[in-house]
Amino acid sequence: MELGLQGRRALVTGGSKGIGYAIAEELLREGAAVAVCARHAEELSSAARELEKLGAPVVARVADVTQAAEVEELVETAAGQLGGLDILVNNAGRAHPGTFATLRDQDFQADLEVKLFSQVRCSRAALPHLRRGGAGTIININAIYGRQPDPAFFATTVDRAACLALSKALAMELGREGIRVNSVNIGFVRTPQWENIHRLRAPELGLEQFLAGVAEPEVPLGRFGEPGEVAGLVAFLASSRASYISGASIDVSGGMGRYV
Ligand SMILES: NC(=O)c1ccc[n+]([C@@H]2O[C@H](COP(=O)([O-])OP(=O)(O)OC[C@H]3O[C@@H](n4cnc5c(N)ncnc54)[C@H](OP(=O)(O)O)[C@@H]3O)[C@@H](O)[C@H]2O)c1
Repeated sequence: MELGLQGRRALVTGGSKGIGYAIAEELLREGAAVAVCARHAEELSSAARELEKLGAPVVARVADVTQAAEVEELVETAAGQLGGLDILVNNAGRAHPGTFATLRDQDFQADLEVKLFSQVRCSRAALPHLRRGGAGTIININAIYGRQPDPAFFATTVDRAACLALSKALAMELGREGIRVNSVNIGFVRTPQWENIHRLRAPELGLEQFLAGVAEPEVPLGRFGEPGEVAGLVAFLASSRASYISGASIDVSGGMGRYV
């Protein structure tokens, strides 16, 4: 399928590894110009070098999406160097395990900054550029826990529900301007985030054994997803082939999610 992403300009937050890296790679393969950010400079520049092997320059900027000033600077740099912005992928985020009993106010607040306010601020900063391009689009990477509460990931559950509401309401507010907003909700995808969870929760198990044990009872397809299995959908949603899709909330979860 020809996606028509040639020459489109995309910013992917959290593009140094995991799902964000795979999205940046997919967009580059489709001919888009790409900017990425992350907090850790070395990891980011080595990711950018790897991505540039696909044959196009990549704008890589160190930025923490929880810091308003850094977000402003990131978006201006990305738009400046790419010559505008058509696609924003709000991907940067993290897992934050914990129950209601263990989480303090500051844990909820920190998690809201990473998940909700990063999407709010990046979207706000990107909007003037998306408007100028004429067919801008925002894709928010969220979690199915925003739809199916899990008290073991209490902050994620609460904060991703807010992110889903943000995506929908923003799609409604921006629709008349021709700007599409969609949410992609992840179940379990094998990334460095899960390597951290493995180290914290069950270092005595091998990684494969740990992941299989997590997926087996929860995921109808019986396995973790791979980042590339998310990236294809994101590229499609970013493209003109998805020109009538806005306000959608699409799971990439191997069937996980006990709701209709
Ligand atoms: N993998 C899953 O199973 C899963 C499930 C549900 C939802 N998700 C969501 O999917 C997204 C990607 O997750 P992933 O599994 O690919 O995670 P990952 O492997 O940990 O990668 C996260 C990326 O985001 C960056 N990042 C994290 N915090 C940031 C911040 N404050 N400012 C700027 N960049 C930041 C990281 O780089 P630095 O550390 O250098 O900043 C990295 O590039 C996240 O929003 C996550 O919550 C993933």
